[in-house]
Amino acid sequence: MTRFLGKSVLVTGAASGIGNATMKLFAREGARVLAVDIGAEFEAIAAVIPGVETIRADVGLSIGVQAMIDRAIERHGGLDILVANAGVSGGMADLFQQTEEDWFSILQTNLVGPFLAIKAAGRYMIDHNVAGSIVCTASVAGLRAGAGGPAYSASKAGVINLVQMAAQTFTGTGIRVNAVCPGLIETEMTRFIYDGAKARGKDAEIGRLNPLQRGGHADEIAEAIAFLASDASSYVNGQSLVVDGGLSSSHPVPRLPQPPSPR
Ligand SMILES: NC(=O)c1ccc[n+]([C@@H]2O[C@H](COP(=O)([O-])OP(=O)(O)OC[C@H]3O[C@@H](n4cnc5c(N)ncnc54)[C@H](O)[C@@H]3O)[C@@H](O)[C@H]2O)c1
Repeated sequence: MTRFLGKSVLVTGAASGIGNATMKLFAREGARVLAVDIGAEFEAIAAVIPGVETIRADVGLSIGVQAMIDRAIERHGGLDILVANAGVSGGMADLFQQTEEDWFSILQTNLVGPFLAIKAAGRYMIDHNVAGSIVCTASVAGLRAGAGGPAYSASKAGVINLVQMAAQTFTGTGIRVNAVCPGLIETEMTRFIYDGAKARGKDAEIGRLNPLQRGGHADEIAEAIAFLASDASSYVNGQSLVVDGGLSSSHPVPRLPQPPSPR
């Protein structure tokens, strides 16, 4: 498929997990991708994928964000799609264990980062009449408590609001801003959950809280991001698409007894 033929796409957090799957999907479908990550080794790895260029940058700093936006424009002649995906979990310390420094650091990457990226990409898109699409990776942790540490949850709730606010800011420009809210996805971020469950012989229980009764795959989130980035979602704006196997569709009640099957 060539859904994104000739499009200039920037994906952050592309060294691993959801960002990596997203980078590959866009490249497969004809886009010219600028892949961004903070990790040292990723530039060499990603650069061998056809259609992908790389830059090492810290998405939590305006200097890094401006450098990545400038590079995408310089190398690919513009910017059509921004995927602000990079994030950190900050661990599972509770409210009393987390420090002020933890909050600054987690919010810097997870919330200030998308803000800076939307601002820089939006400025370019407005100035060059690009009716682009911006997609941020939020989380089910941003919908309600329980799926991450306190600062992580707050940062993702912030992203859900940020895309609403940004969609309003871009009124009349044709630029759309949306988010995905993944549930539990097997990536480096959740490696400790998967490894811990395997070590206890409980890997079959991973994801059992949602009606699909499994964890998700990075490719499944990449597909949702691609939908929001593409013209297929041309009337979707300021929304957060939850991709969690149905986890957030219910209050945490015990499963109801099954009704007798009809005769
Ligand atoms: N895995 C899940 O279950 C899950 C669920 C909901 C939301 N998310 C979100 O999905 C996004 C991707 O996470 P993932 O699960 O693929 O994790 P991951 O750890 O596999 O990948 C995250 C990537 O972001 C990069 N990164 C971190 N800080 C950065 C910075 N300051 N500048 C540039 N790059 C930086 C990391 O180096 C890493 O390559 C994150 O925003 C995360 O919060 C993940």
